[in-house]
Amino acid sequence: MTGLRSDELGLHVSVCLGDENLRPKPRLSVTDAIYNQQTVHDFQPQPVPAASIHALLYAAIQAPMVQSCEQYSFAIVQGRKALAELSDWSARSFSALEDQTLETPSPPGLGYLAADDRNIFFNASTLIIFYGSCASTLSLPDVWLAAGNLILAACGMGYGTRIVVEAIEALNSPEWRRRMKVPPHLFAVAPIIVGVAAGARSETSRKAPDIVSWST
Ligand SMILES: Cc1cc2nc3c(=O)[nH]c(=O)nc-3n(C[C@H](O)[C@H](O)[C@H](O)COP(=O)(O)O)c2cc1C
Repeated sequence: MTGLRSDELGLHVSVCLGDENLRPKPRLSVTDAIYNQQTVHDFQPQPVPAASIHALLYAAIQAPMVQSCEQYSFAIVQGRKALAELSDWSARSFSALEDQTLETPSPPGLGYLAADDRNIFFNASTLIIFYGSCASTLSLPDVWLAAGNLILAACGMGYGTRIVVEAIEALNSPEWRRRMKVPPHLFAVAPIIVGVAAGARSETSRKAPDIVSWST
């Protein structure tokens, strides 16, 4: 068997979808990936190679689905010009949306929402967009579960990621739908940038789990 062994992943893979060569070649166990995942604040400029993107998509679609007959849909953006344009467009449309919908300023910690003139993709050269089906909101949990898989698989392959919800409004605008040839039954749900992190990793901190009840 080429590629990944289940003991390398630390779990049993009972169902195989797709070509085994498309499976990510992880450098970390699942547990290591869970604890090492981090939101990247700056990316090196080189794009993620196509083979790695295919591996990431195949890892993403192994996630549990509400209805396994459905299909996941993705778009990839790698051109620097397109990403720069999408960044500008997104920052403008997200600010406008925020003005319309938020009665109070952005909560603390979301400082990235403040500036309009920055690269919302943090210099990354690869954007992967997860699409949901307009026909059913049930596609939303599927997309986010798959997005979690992709983030962990990317971590296992040595890549950093960042979810960029700021781009959703622009991606679902008629202009970007047209440019990206998105069929009418799909809408953008989860845009995630992927690449090699630039600079040192920052520590992720979390509050301890709040267990409100544990009945036995
Ligand atoms: C669902 C979700 C959406 C996010 N959207 C954005 C975004 O639009 N722009 C951005 O710069 N960061 C975004 N982030 C990153 C977070 O705001 C935050 O910077 C990051 O999660 C903090 O790092 P940590 O997860 O390592 O603690 C998003 C994170 C999540 C989980």
